[in-house]
Amino acid sequence: MTEREGRQAAPALQVVDRKQAPCFKYDFAHYQKAPDLIPMWLADMDFATAPAVLAALQQRVAHGAFGYAPRGEAYDGAVLAWLREHQHWSPEAEWMIVTPGVNAALRCCVRTLTAPGESVLLLAPVYGPFYDAIRQNGRRVVELPLRYAAGRYSLDAEQMEALVAREKVKLFLLCNPHNPIGRVWLADELAAMGEICLRHGVTIVSDEIHSDFIFPGHHHTSIASLSEDLCEASVVCTAPTKTFNLAGLPLANIFVRNAGRRARIRQELLAAGMTSGNALSYTACTAAYLHGAAWQAECLAYIVENRRYLEARLRECVPDIVLPPQEGTYLAWLDFSAFPYRGQALDAFLEERAGLWLSPGWEYGTGGEAFQRMNLACSRETVARACDGLQRAFAG
Ligand SMILES: Cc1ncc(COP(=O)(O)O)c(C=O)c1O
Repeated sequence: MTEREGRQAAPALQVVDRKQAPCFKYDFAHYQKAPDLIPMWLADMDFATAPAVLAALQQRVAHGAFGYAPRGEAYDGAVLAWLREHQHWSPEAEWMIVTPGVNAALRCCVRTLTAPGESVLLLAPVYGPFYDAIRQNGRRVVELPLRYAAGRYSLDAEQMEALVAREKVKLFLLCNPHNPIGRVWLADELAAMGEICLRHGVTIVSDEIHSDFIFPGHHHTSIASLSEDLCEASVVCTAPTKTFNLAGLPLANIFVRNAGRRARIRQELLAAGMTSGNALSYTACTAAYLHGAAWQAECLAYIVENRRYLEARLRECVPDIVLPPQEGTYLAWLDFSAFPYRGQALDAFLEERAGLWLSPGWEYGTGGEAFQRMNLACSRETVARACDGLQRAFAG
């Protein structure tokens, strides 16, 4: 146990009633959903954040004044120590830029590192806002569909290289761990992707927001940690907000070793007026990284058990729903290919017959039409009710 962990309060994972405070995940009226659906869609958690984070926020709120707040050395130190201790990657303090969220960071990178009309590569299916970040900024999406065989996803490196060359790709948006498919990319796979990018002068933006949710037996590797050249060619986005259920207090980090690229990204953020977090997000995120490790471990263990439970129940009652292995994230990716529903017909079937509000697979691009993403950061009882719903829907 590190000194930091030794100081923290006894960890306790608490399920909270999300309906007691406004949140998108349970906003049935806004999304025109029936109020009795089980919401397992948007990627935030039904757990209260770590007790140490709550205590820090309460103390800060009790202070009463919320004027402009600096990010401060405490935040930077906490972020760097977390990455060193938990992810075995040691970026330097000067590489770090802070943004209000990873989505803001991705958009800024697209705008800075490509020109309008240029091609940006992604591995499909992938987190829907990757597509938005490219298209809404007038760039071209180049999709490489991941290979999917026997319920498992992998990269076809040859196909990737051919596509990069043919489409004159300038930027590669990588998701590691990969939402929604649950892969934690291996060092070898990342090296293959990285070598292609180096050979073709492609900059890599690696979204690592899910990197604290790594299942037993797996290991997160940042592509920037693989070599000096890949560190130089990469921009890495991290955030404590997914890990500690703080997405409503947005804050994220961009690590850019290349000084010229870093200056351009800073300039773009300045131009957009997106330069700072706020008093509460800095307080919460600093406390999370300094004192939240044991809570985070408990949270991950609970999610791993939720996944085991889901697998066991589906195997027993609806074995034709295929679950690709989940190596990371708190998101299960359910394959309904064995059934005749696709796209919105699948959404409607699951809502009406199973009482489930999941994330539709078609939102994740090519290859997602027969899938749905299920958020497992909830109580075991919620997962059990979801399984009951699936059993009812598919019985017979
Ligand atoms: C891969 C990925 N990137 C980014 C985000 C959102 O990041 P932020 O809330 O910091 O904008 C999410 C949220 O689900 C995500 O899954």
